[in-house]
Amino acid sequence: MLYLIMYMSTACEALPQKELDAILAESRSWNKSHKISGFLAYVEGNLKDKNYCQFIQVLEGPEAEVTHIFQKIKKDRRHMHLTVIKEGAILNRNFDAWEMGFEKIDLNTNFDLHEFFDLDTKTLADHGNINNNMLLDFMKAFNKITPSS
Ligand SMILES: Cc1cc2nc3c(=O)[nH]c(=O)nc-3n(C[C@H](O)[C@H](O)[C@H](O)COP(=O)(O)O)c2cc1C
Repeated sequence: MLYLIMYMSTACEALPQKELDAILAESRSWNKSHKISGFLAYVEGNLKDKNYCQFIQVLEGPEAEVTHIFQKIKKDRRHMHLTVIKEGAILNRNFDAWEMGFEKIDLNTNFDLHEFFDLDTKTLADHGNINNNMLLDFMKAFNKITPSS
């Protein structure tokens, strides 16, 4: 059975590119060999005079694989305040490439996204309703623009 987990988390401080590259390299090789696809976004910048730095990640694949890696990700000290946005069985993958797609989204240049990320996590999660695809659609849109190689 295919399974999906999508979460948001806070990066302790704005992460340097080197740190992001390390997370991506680690993720891509593990995910590829465990049939996990997905997308990772790192959103950072000034939002309403506060420093915003959040990860949003979609993980999809065999249920045992997805839950296994998610347990490890939850314990990772490079981020905190992890909130599950969506979790459950899916019929088809949303991201077809094995390797984790990635997008760094700079709120200091993308002003049109401020309203979206100003929504609280609960609204984005729509109280855990698996049918709410607002954030998933957002991630899929980025994946189309910058498909992972
Ligand atoms: C935001 C974020 C996303 C991550 N995503 C993945 C991932 O998709 N796949 C993966 O293998 N590791 C990912 N990691 C790294 C894992 O948390 C962990 O470091 C890795 O599985 C090695 O764990 P271990 O040292 O306990 O074996 C991610 C880390 C962070 C901070």
